[in-house]
Amino acid sequence: MSAPLLLLLSGPNLTLLGERDPQVYGTATLAEHVARARATAERLGLVLEHLQSDREGDLVEAVHRARGRADALVVNAGAITHYGWSLHDALATFAGPVVELHLSNPDAREPWRRRSVLAPVSDGTVAGFGGVGYELAVEAAARLLGAPGSRAKRA
Ligand code: DQA
Repeated sequence: MSAPLLLLLSGPNLTLLGERDPQVYGTATLAEHVARARATAERLGLVLEHLQSDREGDLVEAVHRARGRADALVVNAGAITHYGWSLHDALATFAGPVVELHLSNPDAREPWRRRSVLAPVSDGTVAGFGGVGYELAVEAAARLLGAPGSRAKRA
């Protein structure tokens, strides 16, 4: 049996991590976060693929392609989180676990960031832990999958 596939999706402006608002998002780059997520996935017996786009439609199409191919999704959709109904609808069609991820804690920021339209179609959200969140989100997805290297599905 092949290793479960985890797709990590990154939304707009995340390619600017490292330069963008370091007091909010830290100084690590997206490549560093992806490497961290991949190392966690491999430790837990998962294969990780990553796709970044500044366009909502690309993320929607990535979810379509993931249907029946990927086992779980980790999604940091950036600002699309707060208005992206087409990404909401695409995620609603995905059968496996979906973990919403944010570096910052949107609930502690501007009012418009407090609404996530993706939360209702996600199993849960990891937010506010900076780069550690990439490890926690992969770990959460692995547990929901009952992946070989992970601990029990629910403690
Ligand atoms: C973010 C939070 C969003 O509100 C924001 O638009 C981002 C990054 C985060 O990771 O904290 O681009 O998703």
